[in-house]
Formats: sequence, structure tokens, C-alpha cells
Amino acid sequence: MAEESRRVHLQLARPPSLPDDAELVMRVMPLPADSNANGDIFGGWIMAQVDLAGAVLPSRIAKGRIATVAVNEFIFKQPVSVGDLLSFYARVTRVGRTSISVHVEVHAERNPAELQQVKVTEANLTYVAIDSTGQPRALPGSATG
Ligand SMILES: CC(C)(COP(=O)(O)OP(=O)(O)OC[C@H]1O[C@@H](n2cnc3c(N)ncnc32)[C@H](O)[C@@H]1OP(=O)(O)O)[C@@H](O)C(=O)NCCC(=O)NCCS
Repeated sequence: MAEESRRVHLQLARPPSLPDDAELVMRVMPLPADSNANGDIFGGWIMAQVDLAGAVLPSRIAKGRIATVAVNEFIFKQPVSVGDLLSFYARVTRVGRTSISVHVEVHAERNPAELQQVKVTEANLTYVAIDSTGQPRALPGSATG
């Protein structure tokens, strides 16, 4: 039984449709306080979580302070419900002189009685490395960084 449970857990750990270079950067479960009037999770809460998750890989590359400069695309594919366990997978899609773009996919694990995994959101965001005055700075390893 323990062996079987472990196998189920591993099967749900990573959606097979994800590209190999997508990294699990964050997991979180929304609470009732995060829901809207329909009882679904508020889109603004999901956007905030995606912004946090999207910043993980750019922070590592920038080795310091970054700011979100753009949410280039954001798609709510399926509603999120209280009790969903959300996994955020990120992949760097572009590294420029001062900026880094990432693609974030959010997958919800739900219905513990008969576990399911559903892609609920995907987004493209761009972050800029900034200096202590908030101005763009060249990334480490770039021509001027
Ligand atoms: C981020 C910020 C410092 C950038 O300053 P800026 O003078 O606009 O910077 P630049 O025009 O030189 O662009 C910097 C980089 O961002 C990229 N960029 C700017 N706008 C972009 C957009 N809409 N989409 C994608 N990339 C964009 C540029 O291409 C450039 O990348 P590169 O150096 O790799 O080629 C400034 O816009 C800012 O402070 N914005 C507010 C940030 C913020 O408060 N975010 C929310 C909280 S973190």
C-alpha cells in the first residue's frame, strides 16, 4: 500500500506535457479568503502568485534585485478552486542585456478521492535586473555586465 501511494504521488508530481527544461519553482494552496463572489479563486491572487513564481529563475540569473517590467501574456485556462494544490513550473525563454523572459505554467492537483491534474493558467512575463537606484543594470555575464 505504501509503495502504491508513493507511485501515485510520483505520477502526479510532473505533468507529462511540460517541456524538460521547465522547473518546479513554487507550490501553494489557495484559501477561502482568496475567492471571488462566484466561489472561484480571484484572478488577481493567481496573477500575484505567478509574478512571485516567475521571478525565481530571473533572480538567480540576475544575482540581485529585479523588477517585473511586463506581463506579456496571461491566460486563465480553467478556474481554480479552494483546496487545489497549485504547482508553478517556470522556463526561461529569453535572456537579453538587462531583461529575462519566462514562461510560467500553473497546474492544479485536485479531488483527493480521485486525483486529477489540470493546467489552469499560463503566462509570459519579463523581469529586468535593476541597481540600487532602480535603474536597469546589465546581467552578469552579458557584454557590459
Ligand atoms: C523596470 C524598469 C526599471 C525598466 O526601466 P526602462 O527605462 O523602462 O528600461 P528599458 O527601456 O531600458 O528596458 C529594459 C529592458 O526591459 C525590456 N522591456 C521593456 N519593456 C518591455 C516589455 N513591455 N516587454 C518585454 N520586455 C520589455 C527591454 O527590452 C530591455 O531589455 P534588454 O536590456 O534585455 O534588451 C522601469 O520600467 C520600472 O521601474 N518599472 C516599474 C517596475 C515595477 O514597479 N514593477 C512592479 C513591481 S516589481
